[in-house]
Formats: sequence, C-alpha cells, structure tokens
Amino acid sequence: MNESESEHSSSQSAADTREHPALAAEAVDAIENLSGVHPGYRRAHAAGVCCRGFFRPSGLGKEFTEAEHLQEQQVNAIIRFSGSSTDPALADLLSPAKGMAVQFILPDGGVTNLVGVTVPVFFARTPESFIDIIQTAHRLRTGTLGPIELMKEIVSHFSESKDALLAVRRLKPPASYAECHYHCIHAYVLVNAEGRQQPVRFEWVPETGVRTLTLEEAAQQPDRYLEDELELRFKDEPAIFQLVAVLGEEGDATDDPTRAWPEDRRRIDLGRLHISEIYPDPTYLLMDPTILTTGMLLSDDPILKFRSAAYAESYGRRIEGR
Ligand code: HEM
Repeated sequence: MNESESEHSSSQSAADTREHPALAAEAVDAIENLSGVHPGYRRAHAAGVCCRGFFRPSGLGKEFTEAEHLQEQQVNAIIRFSGSSTDPALADLLSPAKGMAVQFILPDGGVTNLVGVTVPVFFARTPESFIDIIQTAHRLRTGTLGPIELMKEIVSHFSESKDALLAVRRLKPPASYAECHYHCIHAYVLVNAEGRQQPVRFEWVPETGVRTLTLEEAAQQPDRYLEDELELRFKDEPAIFQLVAVLGEEGDATDDPTRAWPEDRRRIDLGRLHISEIYPDPTYLLMDPTILTTGMLLSDDPILKFRSAAYAESYGRRIEGR
C-alpha cells in the first residue's frame, strides 16, 4: 500500500469516531479486560496474514450499483485473513471463527472495505448489548465455567446471541483460509444510476468449495498451519473467491445482524477475487467496514455504524504500540 492510500483509510475513519468515541473506548476496554492487552496488535482478530490480489467484476453489479469496483474494470485488492481471537499467540485451532477482510483499491485512488467471517450472524444487536455481553462473559469466566457452559450461560442471559453461538459451535477447523465461506453479515444498500436502492448482504464463496479438517487432523497441525498452507498454495495457484450479493426483500431486517435472511433470496454473482501472494501487513491498514464508495450506502444496522468508531479506537491504540 502506498502512503496516500494509508492516509486515506485512517483519516476517513478518524472523522467517523466523532459519532461514538466514548462507547468505542468502553467496547475496546471490555475486550481488553476479557482477554488482556497485546500491545501493537488489533484488539480482535489479532493474528492474521495479509495478501495481495485483484478483483475482476462480472458486470452483473451494474444493474444494482454505480460502485466503481462492481462495474467492469478490474481493481487491485489487499486481503487480510485472520483468526477471531483477541490473543495473537493463540493457535489457529483455538479460534474457531475465521475472518477475511478485503480492501478494494479504487481507480480514483480511494478505497472501500468488505469484512467477513465464517458465521452468518453476529452475537449482539446493538453496541450497548455488545459491551454488556463481553462484560458478562468476563464475569462468568472468572468462575469455573468451561467454554461450552460459558456459551450456554451467555445465551440464557442474551437470547439474541443464540444463533451466532450455535453457528460457532457447529464450525469445524478449516483446511485452508482459501476454502472457507465468509459472510459480511450486515445489510448494505446498493444504489444504481437511476437512484434505485436495493438492500444486500455480501458473501465470499470459495471457488473450490469449503473444506474442513477433523479435530484429530487439526490437532496434528502446527500452530500457524493456515498461514503455512496459503504460502504453499500460492506456489501453484491463486485462491479464488466469488463475491455474491444476496438481495433482501420486503420484511428482511436490515438493522439486525443477529438474524439471517431466508435462504431462498436471489443471489447475484458480482465477480471474482484472485489472491496470489502474501504481502507484509501494512501497519496503517484499517479495515473499517463503513468506508464505502459512490453507489453504496450503510444500512440502519447500529452495529455496522458503531464498528467504525471501535476499529478506530483499536487502531489508535495499536499504532501507538499500546
Ligand atoms: C460491536 C461490534 C464489533 C466490535 C466492537 C468489533 C471490534 C473489532 C476490533 C476492535 C477489531 C480490530 C480493528 C483494528 O485494530 O484494525 C476488529 C477486527 C475485525 N472484526 Fe470486528 N467488531 C465488531 C463486529 C464485527 C462483525 C459483525 C464482524 C463480521 C462481519 C467482525 C469481523 C472482524 C474482522 C474480520 C476483523 C479483522 C479485520 C482485519 O483483518 O484488519 N467484527 N473488530
């Protein structure tokens, strides 16, 4: 990433922190209380690997949006795969959900980000309940509960978390970051040249399908096996993902990341992301999912809007080496 791209992503996010700075600090403090401070690291999805590639749009997005990267011109991208743990030293096997954050480099030099994980829904409906859930987890964990009992306790206090925690429990260890299905969870709104608005949810679908390991197989892997696997894979072939827009219909919640949409919704193939090399993690990379471009709007999801401030808070702490 060059200097101007770095400045672009950090300065836009800094402006957004004005909306919720105190709550964002509270959320990041709650994460740190739960899992410790790891100076210089992201406060969530701390361990990861950056890659470089390009996105080739299918042209089918033109009907729905004016977004530059969803027309016909190929654009470059930076991708960061990660484990969901807040502790950078935790082995891949021990952070069940995985993340894939993509920064598209737009033809005008700007950027836009899409951030996904391997579960389809989130465990909190609002920033306030996110903080409440993390603080409750912290209180319960200081007792004698194991991870499964802890999840059951959380669900008994916060029924909104049920679907997300069940989805996490169903996850099997992935064979590769390149063979996971990632959900960007929140609704966004695409706007076309006539001004027509369409709510969508984005997904990254691996071209070669999803492949998982048994627990026994995963237990034999080295701590950073997913990173090692990518390096080996790139010697022979790129990792390819299809970007899908799931079209929301009347009555589909756009303000609630804890609820999935019905499975029969129409799916549009927006194009393919080709990832072909590991790339040193640019210190100034900030995958704020609210950085959009013309032809895209944020939905009314309060968690989506809040993430900008929370990520900026974490970013501020980590680049200062805190
Ligand atoms: C209240 C809600 C949330 C909070 C407070 C939160 C907090 C954070 C923080 C503090 C970071 C580190 C940011 C940085 O230092 O750059 C982060 C990273 C990340 N989060 Fe969240 N998060 C939230 C919701 C979500 C959701 C809904 C998803 C899934 C779509 C998600 C997926 C990720 C991923 C994949 C990363 C790693 C990004 C990268 O590779 O740079 N988060 N999160």
